[in-house]
Amino acid sequence: MPFTTQFFQPEWGAQRSQLLQSSLRDPYMGYPITHEYPIVLNPKHGAFSICALNDGRLAAHANMWPRSLIDARTKQNFRIALIGNVATHPSYRGQGIMRTLFEFVFEKAHDEQLEALILWSDLDQFYQKLGFAAFGTEYRWVFGANAFDEFKGPANFAVENKLLWNARRCETALAARHATRYTLERNSEEFASLLHIPDLLLITCSVFDKLQGYGLVGKGADMVGVIHEWGASDPSCLLGLIREAFVQTKLTELMLLTPPDFEKDWSEQLHPLAKRVTKHAMALGKILPDSKILDFADSCFVWGLDSI
Ligand SMILES: CC(C)(COP(=O)(O)OP(=O)(O)OC[C@H]1O[C@@H](n2cnc3c(N)ncnc32)[C@H](O)[C@@H]1OP(=O)(O)O)[C@@H](O)C(=O)NCCC(=O)NCCS
Repeated sequence: MPFTTQFFQPEWGAQRSQLLQSSLRDPYMGYPITHEYPIVLNPKHGAFSICALNDGRLAAHANMWPRSLIDARTKQNFRIALIGNVATHPSYRGQGIMRTLFEFVFEKAHDEQLEALILWSDLDQFYQKLGFAAFGTEYRWVFGANAFDEFKGPANFAVENKLLWNARRCETALAARHATRYTLERNSEEFASLLHIPDLLLITCSVFDKLQGYGLVGKGADMVGVIHEWGASDPSCLLGLIREAFVQTKLTELMLLTPPDFEKDWSEQLHPLAKRVTKHAMALGKILPDSKILDFADSCFVWGLDSI
């Protein structure tokens, strides 16, 4: 069957939404999938969407979002792309169309001298066929609400109206985000835009109105009950954020993600309250030939708000 693979055009917007919604989401979600990806599914950002068409009909789709991976110590910048929203229309599955679409992705990655492609998926076998393997490291801390019954937070904790956070406020939060050596660069405008994702709770910790920390819980259909991004002035501020997340979500269990270089003195203070902590690959990645990322791939960490 003849397919053409090309970048997204705004007139395919309705077909793209329909394909992604029906392939990747529960039909009863209270909002469209486009609201979960305000940057990569914005019709104005067609350069981040690759489409396979058959006779004018959208048959398959994948986002490819160029980003910078930064080494916080040397300030070196590595150009990578995030891949997401991968779906083939049911009537075209099993015909090699996604493999063909990925060949287009790899060609673009080569042309743009990207160093790696990163994605999040449980379909390990499918992506292994396309050359992806475990990439990066994250620690998953599981807490039970009961452990926080006696915990007294050191500051004021609140749920903020995230839609009121302008770029300046986001800059303050980015400065407070916990340091990790290899992560993605994000500017404050992108941060402000990503805060619009539904089912994303923003909790802050302040002393005399000065921001000491923040935590993000949930993100659209993903990461329910997971604190996937955070910053805190010290471990007790972080524990206070977790406690506040329990109060706000009323969940009995929450997960906190931490980077691979999370400091020992911080983890010692978390351990007594945690049910368990486990080490995992952070994502799937394909490191492109001659990339220096190969030397430190296991040390890479991407905060939840950046994942697609
Ligand atoms: C997963 C999906 C994108 C595959 O698309 P597709 O166009 O059918 O894939 P292709 O026909 O190009 O298959 C490429 C290869 O992957 C294999 N493959 C396809 N789906 C697979 C799966 N779910 N698990 C493992 N291997 C799979 C094929 O057998 C083929 O292998 P081969 O080249 O050795 O014969 C499609 O099934 C889909 O849209 N699923 C629902 C949405 C989804 O799960 N998206 C991924 C979210 S991360």
